[in-house]
Amino acid sequence: MSVRARIIGCGSYLPERILTNAELATMVDTSDEWIVTRTGIRQRHIVAEGEKTSDLGFKAAEKALQHADIKARDIDLVLVATTTPDNTFPATATKVQAMLGMRDGAAFDIQAVCSGFVYGLAVADNFIKAGQARTVLLIGAEVFSCILDWKDRSTCVLFGDGAGAVVVRADGGHREGAPNNAPGILSTHLHSDGTLCDILYVDGGPSSTKTVGHVRMVGREVFRHAVINLAAIVDEALEANGLTRADIDWLVPHQANKRILASTARRLGLPYERIVITIDRHANTSAASIPLALDEAVRDGRIQSGHLILMEAMGGGLTWAAGLVRW
Ligand code: ACO
Repeated sequence: MSVRARIIGCGSYLPERILTNAELATMVDTSDEWIVTRTGIRQRHIVAEGEKTSDLGFKAAEKALQHADIKARDIDLVLVATTTPDNTFPATATKVQAMLGMRDGAAFDIQAVCSGFVYGLAVADNFIKAGQARTVLLIGAEVFSCILDWKDRSTCVLFGDGAGAVVVRADGGHREGAPNNAPGILSTHLHSDGTLCDILYVDGGPSSTKTVGHVRMVGREVFRHAVINLAAIVDEALEANGLTRADIDWLVPHQANKRILASTARRLGLPYERIVITIDRHANTSAASIPLALDEAVRDGRIQSGHLILMEAMGGGLTWAAGLVRW
């Protein structure tokens, strides 16, 4: 008998303030029409003065715990996937842990930029399967607005702030190689190629410039790699489980660009309606975008027990990752 890791609850939080494309057009030389046509983004949420990544993560975590009907004391591992930590150290995960009133268990951050949530899902899955954790709180939280160059129209229009969280718990009693129709995380698949680090990066950091820095991106190159890598990793995940594209009920992707989502759907032969899309309202919230989308589709009833969920993401590094989950 082996243990399977299962998502038993989710939650999310968006800062109150909404920044529309029209407002952005008063700040940089852009237009609502350009942003919507090229990206699908209509607005994004931006933190209030003093609101930090840990604040967003904590609010999403509270909702996930409530949804899972568990207490903070039941958690033995807190993971925060983020590129925008409150401080260089300590880990934002330890700050959220403290906000939850926990003084025990372990907490650390995961840095894989936009792929961070799926990387975190892999860490949670493997800690649980190895028996080193039983209940994991996994949060994707970002205040991306703090690393944007608000004078660079090619990047500042693309991102937003937010947080999403899931509770992953050991579900015992599955036979080795449990059938792929039993609920839980079926598999995770992680990749990176550091030789592509200079097409998407932040031009600062503690050991280089001693500053925080701003996002820099060669948009077209990132787009090209995203379309190729995401299609390949989806097939890798399906093949590993003896499943086909037709078995996917919901694609819950990282929300970088509506055209990337449409292209991935086309390659998969998946109807566009089967993609959970939030980019129009949230923009790209990096590691938070998948748990934000997941929470929305679970709460509005689109995702139902027994559905096959495919999550995929690509981000700076480059990193890319996929996870298959039977709900
Ligand atoms: N408003 C108006 N014009 C703009 C804007 C803007 N906000 N931004 C760029 N332009 C202009 C450019 O200056 C350029 O003008 P030119 O032709 O006179 O030189 C023109 O629009 C076209 O620029 P491109 O960069 O070629 O536009 P493209 O069609 O490639 O769209 C975009 C740009 C939306 C960034 C696209 O390349 C993209 O989405 N790339 C992928 C981004 C992504 O996936 N990021 C995910 C990872 S994020 C992470 O990991 C942190």
